[in-house]
Amino acid sequence: MSTSTPPTSQAAAGRPKVLVARKTFDDIVDRLRPHFEVESNDTDLPWPQDELIRRLQGKAGVYISGSDKIDVKLLDACPDLRVVCTMAVGYNNIDVAACSERGVLVTNAPDVLTETTADFGFALMMATARRITESEHFLRAGRWQHWSVTLFAGADIHGATLGVLGMGRIGAAIARRGHLGFGMPVIYHNRSRLPADQEGPLGAQWVEKDELLRRADHLVIVVPYSASSHHLIGQRELRLMKPTATLVNIARGGVVDDAALAAELKAGTIAAAGLDVFEGEPTVHPALLDCENVVLTPHIASATVATRRAMSALAVDNLILALTGGTAKTPLNAGQLRAR
Ligand code: DGY
Repeated sequence: MSTSTPPTSQAAAGRPKVLVARKTFDDIVDRLRPHFEVESNDTDLPWPQDELIRRLQGKAGVYISGSDKIDVKLLDACPDLRVVCTMAVGYNNIDVAACSERGVLVTNAPDVLTETTADFGFALMMATARRITESEHFLRAGRWQHWSVTLFAGADIHGATLGVLGMGRIGAAIARRGHLGFGMPVIYHNRSRLPADQEGPLGAQWVEKDELLRRADHLVIVVPYSASSHHLIGQRELRLMKPTATLVNIARGGVVDDAALAAELKAGTIAAAGLDVFEGEPTVHPALLDCENVVLTPHIASATVATRRAMSALAVDNLILALTGGTAKTPLNAGQLRAR
């Protein structure tokens, strides 16, 4: 059941109305109350879009997460909406062009999650290569009978070639960890090559995508999702990889063809995968659930308390600034905010 928080006082009347569409930290939501009449989703469930549209009537701004869809249908049904602030860095759930056409400002939450997400990408790569969850399941199932030379023997991280697909802020933070912490040669593919003074400290070499796939011992995918990155990694790409290689996806579901990945994992085309994001999540392709050589986590790469607070606070700051005459800190379409 969805519940809503009523205006805190009579004084709220006449102030702009905003909607906090996803539950977040109460003290951070409270920062909105001196400025706005606030309605919030106090359940931990996303609202279906029709309910979101209904609750957005009369609202000037909305705080969302990466799972709330802001599209033409919603924008046309919510004519009072002027500001959309997501607590996520990824914004494939928002039609930014349609927002711009209607004078709706959009902000996201970059930077504050970079290091935390890179930590997780690295952890998932290590768990995958060293078969940590697979071996834990084996132990918990009471199947451990004796020590063995080859029991869950995996692949080294140190000295192995790290491949990064998508060299943005998070990709660079993963490359830095691999290069400085684990002595990994780093190769990457990105639409644009980094300037030499940025490649140098990461020990990173730009290569074509197919070369990246052929050479990487451990591939980490960090590209934003868009029509052009849909199924960027499918059967053809997986078959270019080494049979000993691992693949980690902390970007978005849909960048990897999950059905093809499950088939190739079962066939031994690559050694293992670590996935934090899925096509159609929270549903996970049943064939992946059947694979032992895959580590599965529920989209938690940025989930530390400190970072989730920072992401929420940035979205709230943006909402306050944009609707009180200030300048949003991290706009995606700066200058698009229409007058009331
Ligand atoms: C992001 O910020 O994009 C994370 O994936 C959480 O949605």
